[in-house]
Amino acid sequence: MEGHRNNVTPKASVKPVLFPVNQDIEILDTGKSVSDFIASKIVALDSEENQQPFSVANLDCVLKAHLRWTTNLPRVQPFYAVKCNNTPAVVSILSALGTGFDCASKGEIQLALSLGVTPDKIIYAHPTKPSYHIKYARSQGVDTMTFDNQEELLKVSCCHAQAKLVLRIAVDDSKSMLKLSSKFGAPLSSAGTLLERAAQLGLQVIGVSFHVGCMCTESLTFKRAIADSRRVFDLAESLGFKMSLLDIGGGFSGTEDFGNFDEFSAVINESLEEFFPPESGVRIIAEPGRYYVESAFTLVLNVIGKRVVINETEENGDKAEHSPDRTMEYYINDGVYGSLNCIINFPPCLKIQPYLHRAVGSSEPKYKSVLWGPTCDCVDKVLENYWIPELHVGDWLLLDNAGAYTSSLSSDFNGFERALIHPVVTAHTYNTFIHSHPHHRA
Ligand SMILES: Cc1ncc(COP(=O)(O)O)c(C=O)c1O
Repeated sequence: MEGHRNNVTPKASVKPVLFPVNQDIEILDTGKSVSDFIASKIVALDSEENQQPFSVANLDCVLKAHLRWTTNLPRVQPFYAVKCNNTPAVVSILSALGTGFDCASKGEIQLALSLGVTPDKIIYAHPTKPSYHIKYARSQGVDTMTFDNQEELLKVSCCHAQAKLVLRIAVDDSKSMLKLSSKFGAPLSSAGTLLERAAQLGLQVIGVSFHVGCMCTESLTFKRAIADSRRVFDLAESLGFKMSLLDIGGGFSGTEDFGNFDEFSAVINESLEEFFPPESGVRIIAEPGRYYVESAFTLVLNVIGKRVVINETEENGDKAEHSPDRTMEYYINDGVYGSLNCIINFPPCLKIQPYLHRAVGSSEPKYKSVLWGPTCDCVDKVLENYWIPELHVGDWLLLDNAGAYTSSLSSDFNGFERALIHPVVTAHTYNTFIHSHPHHRA
């Protein structure tokens, strides 16, 4: 990924600022926590009678995740997967920290470039690209891109003959919660044919990539995938390609729910040592998405409606009204067409366990409840059989770990606004970082 092309002015001389002023990042007052910030936002919205959903991006968590990455995986340069959460403040901070970016389209490349990311820090990591997106990438000097089939090679030879190609291989994704190999990745058996075709077309293949699937639960999957990559490297080198890049993709948990990062890191480091030792000169990158942002975001939801459904077989009247068996149905201001789209698209991904913002006594009874999203569509159901204390219209609910594949998938279906995102950093983290990295002063 060395260098840029086509008269693009490099921006590398401009040192990115860690907390850029134009991203509306709020630096919390000394001693103030993110919970304090949420509480004050709620008070402000209540006083304006505004029930728009919002989410708070705790940038301390993003910084912490990055420090853990560089400590655990010193040889692996992260290229953050923008698709996971394209909040500009997140992209800007990661850029300032020196990560690269995995972009899936012209739009994501545009976003990254607009935030000062240089083209050499972008991998266009979609194996199947529209021709005009490839041409756009070329015009911006984004040269590194993945492929996994012959048609793509033809397209690239027409649209960007100087591209640095990375062969995405299919790997075992059976231990992952969301599998990708049915859609992407060349089977190992076809790698030889693809590499020969690339050679015939005069294209450069510089590396191999894989993705073990999202929320991989088994660390040894990485070992097998890295071993497979070595085989493809050897094959490519025997065909005359100069191979210099291994991209180990994403698949890391953001909360430890699906896999312990320390254990995964140990297996990856050992496997790299075995198959791609430092003296091989191969550059190692990864495309983590969820890992960086999942735990950083808290979604703040408002109860906008309510109805009590009384079991028809029970006696009518007061008794049934207060029966613990009744079902409480609530309508909240964000749902599956908004930030909680992952309920439909990745059912096992987000533990949807919203809790009340106001204090609740431990003796308060709980009721079986349904939470509906705000739209007219009955698919827009966030939760059912959820046991929570009685909610009232106007109550606020919090949902933690809501940073991965939430806002980036949301729509304004039915005209409901997307949740507003408030990026914040605590004074402690801000001061620590500014003092230890004076060149990052905003
Ligand atoms: C090509 C590619 N890279 C990276 C990612 C990010 O994966 P994760 O969020 O599991 O880290 C994805 C997710 O779909 C992907 O398709």
